[in-house]
Amino acid sequence: MSQTHQAAIQSVKGMPDILPAEAEFWELFEDTVRSWLKAYGYRPIRMPIVEPTPLFKRAIGEVTDIVEKEMYSFIDSLNGEPLTLRPEGTAGCVRAVIQHSLIAQQPQRLYYMGPMFRHERPQKGRYRQFHQVGVEALGCAGPDIDAEMILMGARLWADLGLEGIELQLNSLGQPDERARHRAELIAYFEAHAELLDEDGKRRLHTNPLRILDSKNPALQELCAAAPKLIDYLGEASLAHFEGVQRVLKDAGLPYTINPRLVRGLDYYNLTVFEWVTDRLGAQGTVCAGGRYDGLVGQLGGKPAPACGFAMGVERLIALIKDAGGEPAAPAPDVYLVHQGEAATRLAFRTAEGLRDQGIDVLLHCGGGSFKSQMKKADGSGAAFAVIIGDDEAATGEAQLKPLRDEGAGQRKLKVDDLAAAIVDQLIDANQADDEE
Ligand code: HAM
Repeated sequence: MSQTHQAAIQSVKGMPDILPAEAEFWELFEDTVRSWLKAYGYRPIRMPIVEPTPLFKRAIGEVTDIVEKEMYSFIDSLNGEPLTLRPEGTAGCVRAVIQHSLIAQQPQRLYYMGPMFRHERPQKGRYRQFHQVGVEALGCAGPDIDAEMILMGARLWADLGLEGIELQLNSLGQPDERARHRAELIAYFEAHAELLDEDGKRRLHTNPLRILDSKNPALQELCAAAPKLIDYLGEASLAHFEGVQRVLKDAGLPYTINPRLVRGLDYYNLTVFEWVTDRLGAQGTVCAGGRYDGLVGQLGGKPAPACGFAMGVERLIALIKDAGGEPAAPAPDVYLVHQGEAATRLAFRTAEGLRDQGIDVLLHCGGGSFKSQMKKADGSGAAFAVIIGDDEAATGEAQLKPLRDEGAGQRKLKVDDLAAAIVDQLIDANQADDEE
């Protein structure tokens, strides 16, 4: 059969592959994250990547960057249903909690990890497919859970060996407080309309709070002098905010109150926070979240308070690398070299037998001379090569060759004795390492 050479297909822009060395790094990160979440009593939930488009419109808000221009939305060609690749996890998590009545009996502490999709301009730290670890506590009122979530962040940065991640905090108050502030803000910006940029003019009557979040340097002075939401908060909102701060102060956790922190999603009320670093260039927010007491009701559930945050995995991994954290590439214990039909059959049996004993085996696949297979064994980083030719196969034996310990010689053993010999030698090698 003739084969034509075709142009190779590339991955979608802004949706990078995560290759093995990188993916190993990710798995170590995920291990740390899972044990950290367990320590705080969070349980996993896995939502679909595709959700009905109205879910995100209703949860995130029609007049947000995400809903206006960043969603990968399409019509299901089979039934005409509008669908969207999830741009974030909170909406889907809350939908699932309502759909399955998870908070009817007791509050839920949940987490998820996985890809999210936003059609943004790709750059360092900003992708079109990126990954979040999201943490949501549903059914919990009071400032204590907000504060605990913030303390959780601080602990994770320490567990990951990260420094220089600063906490910014704000309170968005309640909807009626925001409405009073909003009216004043519109009046203020209207009085200075000639200073607004295109985005600002567009948002003036739809989402004026977002103007405060503008990155445009020309607007900074105007925004700095604008009416501040905090001045419109009532007693209960202020008490909640103070409650959060009290816990942070008791824990000795430094923070900055940033009155311009408004977040890019509409579901927040009261506490909002972001963890920010200056070590990643423009995309410095590694984790962000806050309280969203209105969302469960807004999505059709019995109203319930809630709070959560999500971190950007790519950004955190970049920070860990920047700090010099380099997990050792895991090497197998054994590289299994084999040649000949009988040898290959014994090799499979031997490999499975060793794995039964907890020994990691990389079984050579794809044939080749003993010499070329031994080269691969050396390159694999394995502690031992186990070598089986037809001679060995005939007697049920194998050669055990240490690859890292120059002094130790090769020896022939019954395959059933391999595991014990390997374990003994691995223990000896570990003890020698400890004594050094
Ligand atoms: P968010 O601020 O939109 O919040 O995203 C959270 C984090 O995801 C960001 O701080 C950032 O680290 C990362 N991130 C966002 N977009 C990108 C991107 N294009 N490329 C790389 N990383 C990105 C939420 O998504 C909320 N659901 C958080 C939350 C959970 N609030 C309450 N519960």
